Amino acid sequence: MPDGAAHVEDGPLRRLLDDQRLVVRESFEHGEEHGLTAAERVLVSRAVPTRRREFAAGRRAARAALLELGAPATSILSGPRGEPAWPASVVGSITHCVGYVGVTVARRGDVRAVGIDAEPDLRLPDGVLETIASPAERSMVVALSADGRAVAWDRLVFCVKEVVFKIWYPLALSWLDFGDAEVVVDPDRGTFRASLLRPSHELAALCLPAVLRGRWSRERGVLVAAAWIEARARSGEAA
Ligand SMILES: CC(C)(COP(=O)(O)OP(=O)(O)OC[C@H]1O[C@@H](n2cnc3c(N)ncnc32)[C@H](O)[C@@H]1OP(=O)(O)O)[C@@H](O)C(=O)NCCC(=O)NCCS
Repeated sequence: MPDGAAHVEDGPLRRLLDDQRLVVRESFEHGEEHGLTAAERVLVSRAVPTRRREFAAGRRAARAALLELGAPATSILSGPRGEPAWPASVVGSITHCVGYVGVTVARRGDVRAVGIDAEPDLRLPDGVLETIASPAERSMVVALSADGRAVAWDRLVFCVKEVVFKIWYPLALSWLDFGDAEVVVDPDRGTFRASLLRPSHELAALCLPAVLRGRWSRERGVLVAAAWIEARARSGEAA
């Protein structure tokens, strides 16, 4: 994917983020490690090859997306907690997992925040669901698993929580625990709700709605979830 040679035009993320104000680049391949700027190469100089390849795939896709948006496509460095350092006028999100890379960017004037996440459609390792999910979320996973659809519902709950974190962190610049969001998945509509269980004054200060609404899908063995907030969303509303 030099600037997106293997870019999928009509991929899962494009369908989830069904608004042209959000530019999307996605691919089901990471490709070789190339296309990084010198400053970006420094960020992964000590990383293992698979990490360098996924990082490079993300940065190439991000640069292609920035170009398409008409934004400066210079080095995209990382902030103190790993968040991509977008140009000031841009918001965006990056995700990669084995066999997938996705990026979205938008103008800050259009989109207040966006989060995307991709995970393999495979059950979480034993014991992980208990650490990331509430009793209600675990009951939901049990109920969804009983209906016979072969989706790794536990992994999807994790995936949605990563989406929430990627929205939260760039706005709050503070940690969000797995217990700080309660996820409800709609298996038929391909949607989800994530209630932010933080004090209302904190959410108001961040202009964040109490409930984030988003969409998810599964394609080629990859779960993808995404949510975004309009720049001009009224309090309590997310896209
Ligand atoms: C940071 C985190 C969300 C990344 O998710 P992941 O599923 O492990 O990996 P992904 O490939 O999907 O995403 C990695 C990308 O996320 C982005 N990212 C990393 N830290 C970030 C942050 N603090 N804020 C926003 N985006 C971040 C980066 O672009 C990163 O890719 P890069 O290093 O190549 O630039 C995850 O590792 C993490 O720390 N989670 C714990 C916090 C959490 O989820 N709390 C639950 C809230 S309900």
